[in-house]
Amino acid sequence: MTQATVGKWLDIGPVVQIGPGSARTLPVEGGEEIAVFHTMRGKFYALVNKCPHRQGPLSQGIIHGDTVSCPLHNWRISLQSGEAQGEDEGCTPTIPLKLDAGRIFLLREAVVPQFMPSQPSSAAQSA
Ligand code: FES
Repeated sequence: MTQATVGKWLDIGPVVQIGPGSARTLPVEGGEEIAVFHTMRGKFYALVNKCPHRQGPLSQGIIHGDTVSCPLHNWRISLQSGEAQGEDEGCTPTIPLKLDAGRIFLLREAVVPQFMPSQPSSAAQSA
């Protein structure tokens, strides 16, 4: 793996830390908590840990195939697209994820909040 690749992807730990059919959460300082899912078929997905209905914690839902049932009102959310299934409407943001050498990587720019200047620019101050 090149240094650029290392910088682009965030290593969040070994795949064995998340058993099949379960999920773990990843708190993000200044950003949205992320849920990482491991399906019974061995696939891994990462989504913002909020249901598109009323922000239920998707990480606490039950995984069926490549969907998760929200623990609050049972909406089914696609782990691949983040979209609500059936007649429900809404979408949870997904986070690009890859596996390499037994470890889980998330796309850094999708996890870490973009830099927001805390001070107004000098041009804005003089206006
Ligand atoms: S909050 Fe998820 S179904 Fe209502």
